[in-house]
Amino acid sequence: MKYTRPRGTHDVTPAEIDRWRAVESAFESTFDRFGYRGIRTPVFEATDLFVRSVGEQTDIVSKEMYTFTDRGGRSLTLRPENTASVIRAYLENGMHRWGGLQRLWYVGPMFRYDRPQAGRYRQFHQVGAEVLGSSSAAVDVEVIQIVVESLAALGFEGLDVRLNSVGSEASRAEYRTVLLDAIRQRAEEISPEALDRYTRNPLRIFDSKEYGDRFKQSLPVISDYLVESDAAHYARVRDMLGAIGIAFTEDRHLVRGLDYYTGPVFEVYFGATGAQSALCGGGRYDDLVRDCGGPDTPAVGFSAGLERIVEAMPGQPADDVRGVHYYVACIGAGAEARALNAARVLRDVAPAEVDLSGRSRKTQLEAAAKKKAHVIVVVDDATPGTVEWHDLRARTERRVQEDHLDAFARDASEGDSR
Ligand code: HAM
Repeated sequence: MKYTRPRGTHDVTPAEIDRWRAVESAFESTFDRFGYRGIRTPVFEATDLFVRSVGEQTDIVSKEMYTFTDRGGRSLTLRPENTASVIRAYLENGMHRWGGLQRLWYVGPMFRYDRPQAGRYRQFHQVGAEVLGSSSAAVDVEVIQIVVESLAALGFEGLDVRLNSVGSEASRAEYRTVLLDAIRQRAEEISPEALDRYTRNPLRIFDSKEYGDRFKQSLPVISDYLVESDAAHYARVRDMLGAIGIAFTEDRHLVRGLDYYTGPVFEVYFGATGAQSALCGGGRYDDLVRDCGGPDTPAVGFSAGLERIVEAMPGQPADDVRGVHYYVACIGAGAEARALNAARVLRDVAPAEVDLSGRSRKTQLEAAAKKKAHVIVVVDDATPGTVEWHDLRARTERRVQEDHLDAFARDASEGDSR
């Protein structure tokens, strides 16, 4: 074979597409039920948008971005995530002046130059939401509820919702000093470059892959340093999750791989809890809109990885043949226009597929059975004006006037549903 797909990408073949559609529509219908509205942004943005929002010292920005210079000399980056783009679009389209809360949801491809492995791709897809304009802890709870309800609709049981608070700037100021002292005390275990990096952004040590859990667990945790307002907000989130029956565990080492969070953060796991198994992550980021040049606007959101959800989804892989209702067999090239017309009429009642392969009658009938068709309609060059109607479920056969095909199909389908 001459070409292969780029490393870390994948094709979704028809064998998997039903699972993909199930996952997308589970989230989509939850968003509809909660009154969220869709937003779509470009797959590339000015590089600076991600550097500023996700954070210069994060792995995402420092190691994983697909950055290029276009022919006009601009530095552009394939989006590694969508929160920054949504904020940019919110401001650029004046949505901050629309008043009230904006509840926005999206789905689409993201790009990170990460080491490919199970559940980790270089092009992957996220479905997610950003809610702008409320500092209420109830909104933090609502986005978690959306994740849990969407995953439950897909058959996930026993989800592990992990929760922490990384605190606002007020909490982090003191904590940063304490944490940095603790890191410096163990400087001999850390390379000089890493030490330099952690000096600038000590919280990053918790999602570094270089240090084991024991090392990380010996360090002070942010939740012990939350200022009163952060602690109270976090407590309200926990209380309300309890009140609406969403189980969670507190994980005092959860910090997330992006710098913009300023309050409660969460990740949702299922099954084996390896580093790669988070189905979803999110949290509150009250400073980002302002940092992007907008007015003070509290915000909270999440993104879920479609590949990981599709791969972890309980239940049988979907049948790779979706049953088609009508299979229109076309016998003889002269019958093609009639076959297209018959299918057009039938589609008003149910999905119809036309066999335009020019194969023998027997082969076409076999193909229809393989496709699990309910009815085969045979349009034959030799019998102008009428078609054969084979009802495969009722095991009946008859001849139908072509002019009356629509009325006949409608009657038959009403008979089916009676
Ligand atoms: P994130 O934790 O970086 O957060 O990504 C969210 C989810 O995307 C992960 O839990 C995972 O399911 C999926 N994901 C991330 N990287 C990969 C990859 N290389 N391959 C496959 N799946 C992946 C964010 O992106 C934030 N924007 C979430 C957010 C929205 N926070 C507030 N609003």
